[in-house]
This record gives sequence, C-alpha cells and structure tokens, in this order.
Amino acid sequence: MSNEISALQRARAAYQPKLPKALRGGNITIELGEPSHPATDTEAIRKLFPRTFGQPVVKIIEGDGKLSAAPLKVGVVLSGGQAPGGHNAIAGLFDALKAANKDSKLYGFLKGPGGVIKGKYEELTAEIIDPYRNTGGFDMIMSGRDKIEKPEDLAACKKNFASMGLNGLVVIGGDDSNTNAAVLAEYLRAEGSKTVVIGVPKTIDGDMKNEQIEASFGFDTAAKTYSELIGNICRDATSAVKYWHFIRLMGRAASHVALECALQTHPNITLISEEVQAKGTTLGEIVDYIVDVICERAASGKNYGILVVPEGLPEFISDIKTMIDELSSILGKDEEYIHNLEDHSERAQYLNNQLSDHSARVYGSLPADIQEVLLKRDSHGNVPVSQVETERLLIDLVSDKIGLMKEHCRTEAKFSPLAHFFGYEGRCAAPSNFDADYTYALGFAAAQLVRAGLTGYTVNIQNLTKDSDEWVAGGTPVTMMLNMEMRKGKPTPVIKKALVDLDAAPFKAFAACRDDWAINDRYLFPGPIQYFGPTEVCDAPTVTLALEKAEGCGCST
Ligand code: FBP
Repeated sequence: MSNEISALQRARAAYQPKLPKALRGGNITIELGEPSHPATDTEAIRKLFPRTFGQPVVKIIEGDGKLSAAPLKVGVVLSGGQAPGGHNAIAGLFDALKAANKDSKLYGFLKGPGGVIKGKYEELTAEIIDPYRNTGGFDMIMSGRDKIEKPEDLAACKKNFASMGLNGLVVIGGDDSNTNAAVLAEYLRAEGSKTVVIGVPKTIDGDMKNEQIEASFGFDTAAKTYSELIGNICRDATSAVKYWHFIRLMGRAASHVALECALQTHPNITLISEEVQAKGTTLGEIVDYIVDVICERAASGKNYGILVVPEGLPEFISDIKTMIDELSSILGKDEEYIHNLEDHSERAQYLNNQLSDHSARVYGSLPADIQEVLLKRDSHGNVPVSQVETERLLIDLVSDKIGLMKEHCRTEAKFSPLAHFFGYEGRCAAPSNFDADYTYALGFAAAQLVRAGLTGYTVNIQNLTKDSDEWVAGGTPVTMMLNMEMRKGKPTPVIKKALVDLDAAPFKAFAACRDDWAINDRYLFPGPIQYFGPTEVCDAPTVTLALEKAEGCGCST
C-alpha cells in the first residue's frame, strides 16, 4: 500500500464504527433458540450435514456469559467478489478477540480460500490492520474464488489448521462461500478437529438475505456509488438532450442493485429480471417495450433517456435460461473436450449438435463474444455474467427495430445510444457509514460465536434500520438456509439466493412509479456518499432496506 494517503482517508481513519449496545461491554452471553431446519429439502440436507444439522438460532446478548477468555488463534479469509467494508469486518474481529484476551492471534489467509488450502497466511497485527480501517477493497489479505470442495482440499485445510493450532476460521463471503463454510464445518466436526467455522454475509449483489440476515454487507455502498453515477448521467442526458444511455449494473443473479438504483435515481426504464422471468417475457418483447418508450418520448421531443439493465438479465429470459442450463449439463460432461477444440466456430458447431433444436437456435442467434462467455463457469458453476455485454446487445436490437420503423415512416425518433457498465467501480468504494458500522459489528459478533465454540453458523446483525444501539447480533445455522439446486448438472446444497420479491414493498414502490418515470423526467440526483454531515445524508440505509422494514417511501414523483 502507498505511504501517501488522501485527505479523506486521513479523516476517515479516525472514524470509530458503532457497535450494538450488547457488544460494547465485556459482559456477553449466547442465548440459544429453537432447533432449526431448512425451509425445503430437509431430509437431503440432514443427510449431507448430520453433525451440524438442526443447530439452534442464537443471539448474542448482554449477560454473565461463559465465553472463552482463553487466548484463541483465529483465521480469517475473504472469499469471492470485493464488497465495501471487508476490512472493517476484519478489524471488528481483531478488536473483539484482543478485547477478550490480548494474547489471542488473528491470521489472514491470503488470496481467498486457495490460501486456506495451501496454508498461505500472515499474522494480522494492529500495525497491519490499522491503516485499512474504514477503507474499501480487500487488499489487506486479498480475495479469490477457489472452492474448498475436493476431499484433498478439505484434508489440507484440516492439516493446516492443526499445525497452526487454529480455534476458528471466519469466512467472509457470499451465499456460495457461506455454503462452503458449512461444508468445511461439517467435515471438521466429523474429523474431530477443534477448529470451528463461522461465515459473514458479504456481497454487493444484496442477494444473501432472509428473515435472519437483513442485508449482505457492501450492497449499501455499491448501490449508492452506482446511484451517484447514474444521477450524474441523468443530469448529462437532460443537458445534452441527444443520448440514450444504456447502463448495465452488476449483480450476478438478483436485480436488487438495479432496483435500489432505480429507487434512488428514477431512470426512464429499469428492467427487473425477476419480473421478466415471472411474466415469461421474451427478448423480443423486452426490445418492443424499450422501443415503445423511446418512440413515445421522441414524440414529445425527448430523444434522450436512461435505461438500467441488471447484469443477470440473460439468465432470467426463459429460452436463454433453458439454453444455459443445457450448456451447463453439456459442460458437466464434456468441458475439457469443448475447451480443447481449436476455435470458437468448432465449439459452436459441436454445441449445435448437442443442444436441443430450440436452444441451438437461441445460442446461434447471439453474438460470438456472448456465446464464448456462456461457455465459462466459475468454481461454483456460475456463468460470469459480468462479462456478458447485455447493454450492447439491447442497443443493437433496439437500433435494428427503430431503423426498420423509420424505413416504414412509423417513427421519427433519433436514437443515439451510449453503453455503460457499472460494476467494479462500486465494489471497492470506501464503505458508507452504514457499511463501516455494519461490517465492524459483524466481525465483532463473529468473534463471539468463535469464542462460544459454535460452528456452521453465519453471523447476523438485525434491526438494521434502527439506531446501532438497538442492533441485535446473533448467528444463523447455515443448514437452515440451504436448499438443493442443480449445479454443473448435479443436485448440490446451496444457500438459497434471495431474488427480488415482486410482492414486496421495494418492487411495488418502483412499479407504481415507472410509467410516470418513463415519459416524464423525474430524475433524482443522490450525489456522492457523504461520510461527514447531517444524519439524513450520511447514515440513511438503502431505500430497499427502509421499505422492507417499512420505514420509508421509495417513490416521490
Ligand atoms: P460475490 O457473489 O462473490 O460477492 O461477487 C459478486 C460479483 O460482484 C457479481 O456482482 C459479479 O457478477 C461477479 O462478482 C464478478 O465476478 P469477478 O469478480 O470474478 O469478476
């Protein structure tokens, strides 16, 4: 890290994140709730996790606890995509361990789960951690997308932990990484290892949430960062009055980021993948809708506008989804063969013979660069949708249709499109006050779960729209959040992703306003995240969270 720091970094370094009242004193105890079970696939999950299935939900409360005050050795790993606040989660964990016993030690595994398998780590001291407090990024120990899955990986972890004398491992990651943490917890318990495993809910995508986990960290900061940029583009659009901006937003599957940004900025069009899926909307129908709005605005003299598309959209369009599922099954059998073929045209030809007729037609209709991306999978079996340029595909299809309409004198719309993708720009932003506090509290609470010897839990903080004094920390057994899904053609236990709920308040607030936003310019300009200043500017949660907790109104036209 550079020795030189910005004025904001210097001022921000002095920020002391807030903690829930129950975590502030030294008097902490764990309250055990009822035994838990998953919402579906109970027997399959019980069978796969016999030693960690059914554990109780827990709360961390004030009280005369019997938490270990012995010196502990704890490891921490950052897993998956970056999310603002990761460094504060580590700082909270460190501070809590040291507060319980100054001889406790924290080790950072380097470059993600791969570092855990290889036993690559460094001790994290105050000297190392302090400069990273309240900063964005995961650069303190870096991240990675390796999966601890194969028997030899699990065995390597057990060996590394034993030689380090590790009492606990804290895995900071999203749904896949927390699932992986549960697999590791189950394995270690079966092997009689003393190392417990606790997960921390992280992802800018906002899709690791449920009744227990109110939000994943990083969503707040990332969505606010993208909203600032979208607001700036709205202002440019109404100034230049000549461009249509097609903006793709990160968020692998769920459209939470797109929906939140829509509520914060009021673009003319926002596509919500979950609605597309629910209505069975085809790509052609999406294009028709966009063209209708463009033509209607043009008719009132507005040849400009803003469209927001979530990056996950392709997987929610039914025939594209069917084709991707078929590709996944084919890759499950023939991945090596396919990737060893000479060039893309040979791969396309091979797939053409393997896919069903309909899927072969859908695959063949896509541009070659998108076809190639659809053949990639990460270690968790996900398509790297951040590389699919859906905004450009839509621009091409919309241009073609408007061109045809013009030929038949059916519109006079002028369509000058510009494509944007906002993803990596938001993942390492300096955490908002919300994320700085939330992550510090998550890390601090994770330390208590380790001290209590719990394993196979994801730490949670509830009551997030209340003052941090009233936040309540606890732990959710991971097995409670699992369901069985097909991954790489096999039924696999995974934490159920929270998609946008079309019956919940955030989507309803958007749906009630979108026709007005489409035609009239109701843009909002949230501006950059503020770290110092009035509470309503600096400390407001996302509109999504406020609406979900029924404390705000997302739609003011
Ligand atoms: P996580 O689920 O690991 O938090 O990552 C989310 C994400 O930022 C997605 O929004 C995006 O599609 C993906 O990571 C990009 O992956 P990569 O960092 O490997 O390019």
